[in-house]
Amino acid sequence: MKFFIDTADLDQIRQANELGVLDGVTTNPSLMAKQGISGEKNLHAHYLSICEVIQGDVSAEVIATNYEGMCSEGEILANLHSQIVVKIPMTIDGIRAIHHFYEQGIRTNCTLVFSLSQALLAAKVGATYVSPFIGRLDDISSDGLQLIQDIRMVYDSYDFETEILAASVRHSMHIVNCAKIGADVITAPLEVIKSLAHHPLTDIGLKKFLDDYQKTSS
Ligand code: G3P
Repeated sequence: MKFFIDTADLDQIRQANELGVLDGVTTNPSLMAKQGISGEKNLHAHYLSICEVIQGDVSAEVIATNYEGMCSEGEILANLHSQIVVKIPMTIDGIRAIHHFYEQGIRTNCTLVFSLSQALLAAKVGATYVSPFIGRLDDISSDGLQLIQDIRMVYDSYDFETEILAASVRHSMHIVNCAKIGADVITAPLEVIKSLAHHPLTDIGLKKFLDDYQKTSS
């Protein structure tokens, strides 16, 4: 399973990369705004800075909402760097744009996916990644993990090559359960990735080892 970090914070991307677990980065307009980055020139420069920090895929989202705008913006983003994956929202225009990019050999991440019907369409038009937002589904008492499981079943039945990128991941059990179900990728904040390492028995065990060492060496 690939691990992506869901942030535009360069320091956090560096930290995740240093852990040795990082396969890519996902960003979105909200995450870029959180870093105070605005304006086309600054956004592009920031995507290039991210590509300098890591070697994997970097999702860069289009702002345009119409087909023509998505196509021209996505082409500029894809030309910035070979690591860029053009992130496109699940709309009718978005589906057309994903198909256009598929035909051009440009990789895409279909975002804001909340249903199996949407995931089916994304695969059908050749999205490289599909991003179901599992945390936001859980927020409205729907079952985010069930959606991942359903997409896995359908994609496997028809040999769709689109990778399932579980997004809006909020805690370590989301990651563990995505791994059990067979999500291809998870994208999560740094703290959620780091929380996978925590276990109280590890802390207790380590303290005991160090206490015993001190006893014999004093
Ligand atoms: O990857 C999508 C993500 O940025 C959304 O996460 O926590 O805002 O639902 P969240």
